[in-house]
Amino acid sequence: MSHAPADPAAPAVQTHDLTRTFGAMEALTSLNLTVNRGDLFGFIGSNGAGKTTTLRILATFLTPSGGRAEILGHDVVRDADRVRHLIGYMPDFFGVYKDMEVTEYLDFFGACYKIPAAQREKTVGDVLELVGLSEKKGSLIGALSRGMQQRLGLARVLIHDPALLLLDEPASGLDPRARIEMMAILQELQRMGKTIIISSHILSELQSLCNRCAIIERGRLIYSGPIKGVKAAASDARAFWVRVDGSSEAARELLVQRPETAGVEIVDGRLKVTLSGAEGDGGYIADTLVRAGTRLLELREDEIGLEEVFLRVTKGETQ
Ligand SMILES: Nc1ncnc2c1ncn2[C@@H]1O[C@H](COP(=O)(O)OP(=O)(O)O)[C@@H](O)[C@H]1O
Ligand SMILES: [Mg+2]
Repeated sequence: MSHAPADPAAPAVQTHDLTRTFGAMEALTSLNLTVNRGDLFGFIGSNGAGKTTTLRILATFLTPSGGRAEILGHDVVRDADRVRHLIGYMPDFFGVYKDMEVTEYLDFFGACYKIPAAQREKTVGDVLELVGLSEKKGSLIGALSRGMQQRLGLARVLIHDPALLLLDEPASGLDPRARIEMMAILQELQRMGKTIIISSHILSELQSLCNRCAIIERGRLIYSGPIKGVKAAASDARAFWVRVDGSSEAARELLVQRPETAGVEIVDGRLKVTLSGAEGDGGYIADTLVRAGTRLLELREDEIGLEEVFLRVTKGETQ
């Protein structure tokens, strides 16, 4: 079988109306996803949204029911063998070979990828160094902490030097420290030029890590773009927090009279002022209060948290 050579400029991942059904259940519906080369890409969705299904299809472990998917220009069904060498897939649960030593384990997977024996020792050493486990070479896997086992899983998917990593919730179940260590390794891998897709059901976990993200809900793509854009897509009204020296109630009276104000709530002695237009800024709040002789102690924009954004963005789809 011969296929046209892959387009050298093809994105890392491109899906076209990717669909997957399980019986009567549609787990993925016409998903059009693009991941660019070099992205550290967050793939976000609640449990059951279809993250694992998508990643398994990209990893060639599951066939689509409709549509198609390409990795660096190679079709995951027609060019499955080629794709398998281009990707490193870390499933959400991977078998732990408790009674194996760390190096034995990696050497075994190196052999699976047909890395010559003479070269494997160096390769294993290199990936262990990358994930910060050089000191654990001779340890039994069962004796490693959960965070170390996850990093070993990462070492395993790096052994054949793939261009694209597909990581299914690699940070789940990790304590905060182990999670930070994992994130630092992923950033290092991005710097090395790898493209990384990391799934999570916790949006804020990926906020500072990823440059781009997609949000899926019930098998449908509901956002794809820069992490920053998620907020803009979700926030219709801006709000400011205000604290004054004196009566909050009097300040509220002043602010509700202004056309720029949509509403004012008093929460724990502070005022939350919601603006009527998305364009305005909080300058008028300061002007209004100061002109009335009120001393302003605090004025800052309400940063809606990413979790709140996530709830807002997914709301229409889940109800
Ligand atoms: N092998 C399967 N058989 C039947 N249903 C499945 C199978 N795998 C996944 N599903 C269903 O597909 C939907 C998406 O699942 P999944 O991709 O695992 O979501 P996520 O990883 O986002 O939690 C869920 O409703 C799940 O129950
Ligand atoms: Mg999953």
